[in-house]
Amino acid sequence: MIPREIIDEILYTAQIEDVIGEFVQLKRAGSNLKGLSPFTDEKTPSFMVSPAKQIFKCFSTGKGGNVVSFLMEYEHFSYPEALRWLADRYNIAIPEEKEKSAEQIAELNERESLGVINEFARDTFVNNLWNTDEGKAIGLSYFLERGFSEDTIKTFELGFSAEAFDSFTKAALDKGYNLKHLLAGGLTKEKNDKTFDFFRSRVMFPIHSISGKVLGFGGRTLRNDKKVAKYFNSPESILYNKSKILYGLFFSKNAIIKNDRCYLVEGYTDVISMHQAGVENVVASSGTALTKEQIKLIKRYTQNITILYDGDAAGIKASFRGIDLILEEGLTVKVVLFPEGDDPDSYSKKVSQEELKEYIDANSKDFLVFKTEILLGESKGDPIIKAKLIHEIIDSIALIPDEITRSLYIKECATQFEMDEKTLISELNRSRKNKLSKEIGSGENRHTNPNLVKVEDQPVAQQQEVSKSSNLEAHEFNLIRILIKYGAKELQIPYLDENGKEVVVPMTVAEFVIKDIEVDDLKFSNPTYQKVFDVFKEGIEQDVLFAESYFVNHADTDFSKLAVDIIAEPYQLSSSWKEKFYIQTNLEEDKLTSNVVKALYSFKKAKVLFEIDEIRHRLKNEELDDETMASLMKRQMELDKVKIVLAKELGRIIL
Ligand code: CTP
Ligand code: MN
Repeated sequence: MIPREIIDEILYTAQIEDVIGEFVQLKRAGSNLKGLSPFTDEKTPSFMVSPAKQIFKCFSTGKGGNVVSFLMEYEHFSYPEALRWLADRYNIAIPEEKEKSAEQIAELNERESLGVINEFARDTFVNNLWNTDEGKAIGLSYFLERGFSEDTIKTFELGFSAEAFDSFTKAALDKGYNLKHLLAGGLTKEKNDKTFDFFRSRVMFPIHSISGKVLGFGGRTLRNDKKVAKYFNSPESILYNKSKILYGLFFSKNAIIKNDRCYLVEGYTDVISMHQAGVENVVASSGTALTKEQIKLIKRYTQNITILYDGDAAGIKASFRGIDLILEEGLTVKVVLFPEGDDPDSYSKKVSQEELKEYIDANSKDFLVFKTEILLGESKGDPIIKAKLIHEIIDSIALIPDEITRSLYIKECATQFEMDEKTLISELNRSRKNKLSKEIGSGENRHTNPNLVKVEDQPVAQQQEVSKSSNLEAHEFNLIRILIKYGAKELQIPYLDENGKEVVVPMTVAEFVIKDIEVDDLKFSNPTYQKVFDVFKEGIEQDVLFAESYFVNHADTDFSKLAVDIIAEPYQLSSSWKEKFYIQTNLEEDKLTSNVVKALYSFKKAKVLFEIDEIRHRLKNEELDDETMASLMKRQMELDKVKIVLAKELGRIIL
């Protein structure tokens, strides 16, 4: 934990325009600075930095925040990593952490030691490759023959491990590294009290963490002996956890963000060759089935994966399982099949950069369409096989979390199989129910709301639902916006005293809004808004007021993102939105009281309308017993009355 006062000092000292200026070319535009967004490929600058407010906003991607959130977005730092980076840049000392448990120290030491040893190993292997006779003759000539350029070899820090029995281990021990750590990292092996090098006479591929640290190695033999494993890889250790690593991610993360797509290949050499061919948004699962953790890693950068298959990959069908995992995470999956006998590595060397890109674009297919085609081809019209196939496809579709995407796939599937959509939907529901009951049975209860598609619920109806709840959310947002922007401002609220005389009571916007909502015990449907509300509520109880900057600089990125969206709003709100909420920045503050009251009543009215709709929907679509139906109807009548009152009140507010 970095102490609060140091965080404040860092935030106070750091200048967002300097920091972002290191990564993005900024030009002055009025009181702001403008540049090309580093998060997307754009031709006209939509990226703004405000030195006065110490925030940035990217109008192409919607990203925005303070200096810390910029580093988190751009460098993919964690919050403390970003703070440490800033502290380092501005020479602010962060006091050493106090007590750590002995276990933590041991783990830290082991992790750090393995890290240092890996860097030493990488340097040794790189030096072998470029500066020793053996390395040059065997390793370097091999890479060059394969068509890797010197630049590529240097970028990926490729190297060579010497043939000699224990030259690396000896050198490492001479340097003072601990044998225990050499063994734990797998660089050294032990047999019959003898220690020797694990990697010998192999070309070496360092495997990097997302921030570029060396976590382990893959070493390829240059012998054509079938009995020798083609690759040796570092064993699992405290540092190297295969299932959480994607080869190449360190080199590709920015390109993945820019292209909003990640190509997934099988091997080290595929990644490297694609890079050299100008396709940089590529990572490798290193020959194993994709894990959930790896998918989550990709998901930090994009929602879109394209899998590149060898033309003769026998494993395509075997890989379907892994792909279901991707769908389940809510990502979209496309596949590209390379020509017979080619993998991305060999193909990228046969054709020009343009041809490679064109080939990938022209041959990208939606995964479910691809799967259907393959399986349909196999069924050769046999109805039993075909039925089994439909079940399989539906099972895949059932994994997709997003309801609208699911129903689009069902439509597509209905066309492809020439089948009735309703039949497929009820099959989909069966599959989802099955999956759900399995999860509940196994205690894995992640999807508490299965959102089963009802047969009569077609996409149009769903979209209406979405717009109704998003309308409510717009009113919620508006109220939270007012709290964050004006929470500490004072209002003059007219009240009737016990004699019926009007008295003006001064109170803050936050106090007024919070108390009024508390009375009706209303909740926000958006969890972030609810959190903001709770912060204000607690503040009022303790007599603390919060300004905009409190939220902008909050460690919780939900808060800072929201606050920046609100502050940057005059640039981005659509005109209809402005009309709807009567936002004209200066005017709004002039007539704060009526604006606050209006926002509050509008929010309440939206809540009421939302509940009325819900009730109507239930009355229309559900089989209800008499008692439930009666109570729903009663509630509906009450709400109708409230609605009328609110509408009247709203009509009376003069802006
Ligand atoms: N792999 C492995 N161990 C093996 C074989 C393969 O760990 N014995 C992993 C490696 O990460 C390798 C990937 O699976 O990169 C793909 O295997 P393959 O296609 O055989 O290797 P390539 O990387 O394509 O190597 P090359 O082109 O040099 O044959
Ligand atoms: Mn290959």
